[in-house]
Amino acid sequence: MTEAKASVLLVDDDVRTLELLGATLDLQAFETTLSHSPQDAIRLLETVRFDAIVTDVVFDGFSDGSKVLAAARDRQPHAVVVLMTGYPQIDDAVSAIKGGAIDYLQKPVDPIVLGAMVHRALREAKMRVAGDQLEFVELVDIISQMVANTIERVDPYTAGHGERTRKYCRILGQHFGLERATLERLELGAIAHDYGKIYLDDLTFLTKQGPLTAEEYREVQKHPALGAQKLGSHPHLVEVCHYVAEHHEKWDGTGYPHRRKGEEISLPGRILGVVEVFDSLSTKRSYKDVWALDKTLDFFRAQRGRAFDPDVVDAFASMLEVHGEEWMAQPQKDLQAAGLGAQAPEA
Ligand SMILES: [Fe+2]
Repeated sequence: MTEAKASVLLVDDDVRTLELLGATLDLQAFETTLSHSPQDAIRLLETVRFDAIVTDVVFDGFSDGSKVLAAARDRQPHAVVVLMTGYPQIDDAVSAIKGGAIDYLQKPVDPIVLGAMVHRALREAKMRVAGDQLEFVELVDIISQMVANTIERVDPYTAGHGERTRKYCRILGQHFGLERATLERLELGAIAHDYGKIYLDDLTFLTKQGPLTAEEYREVQKHPALGAQKLGSHPHLVEVCHYVAEHHEKWDGTGYPHRRKGEEISLPGRILGVVEVFDSLSTKRSYKDVWALDKTLDFFRAQRGRAFDPDVVDAFASMLEVHGEEWMAQPQKDLQAAGLGAQAPEA
């Protein structure tokens, strides 16, 4: 697809200059409109959109170019404005630049130089706009952080849990060759996996000191299904909700809520299950202290083929051989950043 030509309004009362500049700019891939007077140019600015306006400063002895500039700034603030001026009018041009023109050229104007200047100015304007716009990934990051903050609001000791879980899920997901769309949904599921906690009837369970009673534990076990139900019904969330619902299922069928078994649990769900438990073990919670790396690795080896998919455990254990100490230290850093202090890991 060819890009649309940039539209330029050329304003000058010297017909020969105007036609020469117009013809050359047309050859440089611009769509030019010619105007012989400031009044006509201002009328055009009311109704036609231009990307750039190039105007003379002095018309019949009056500096009416400044009126064209003012109309352009008022009606078409997106457009770049270039002034053309004779030497005696340089001061006028400088003050006009302060009024919003991007540059000026001394007459006689070289049409090639003018074209290059307008091209460059349009390119720079485009980059400024792009710099102010959110990229899609930034938008996802911002909204993900909002969701994580909401979950951390009801359980402050999970500070950073969602973001860390997301990172480890992405690395494991890439290891297993998940396609991009699945990987993105897994990352969203990782951020939101405990979203259902905010809908529990009694939030005090989440920060209770010591173990939960059987009844309290049954209540907390509602959070995967609640999260999947409450996250929303956007078509792109179908898989995300599925992974959220699965994150406490276990390979041997002893998990919850549906006691799914083995490959009845999706691969992203199995990855999320391993990663989420790792991060919980490396974090001080209201009901437990931090586990040391050796103890954590022993736990995963013992649960290989029981709570967790053996392939996922093997891949994750290999990663922990490399990143384990760093990843184990991260929750304490995040808790400290959240002003919650931290405890040293158990020996
Ligand atoms: Fe959970």
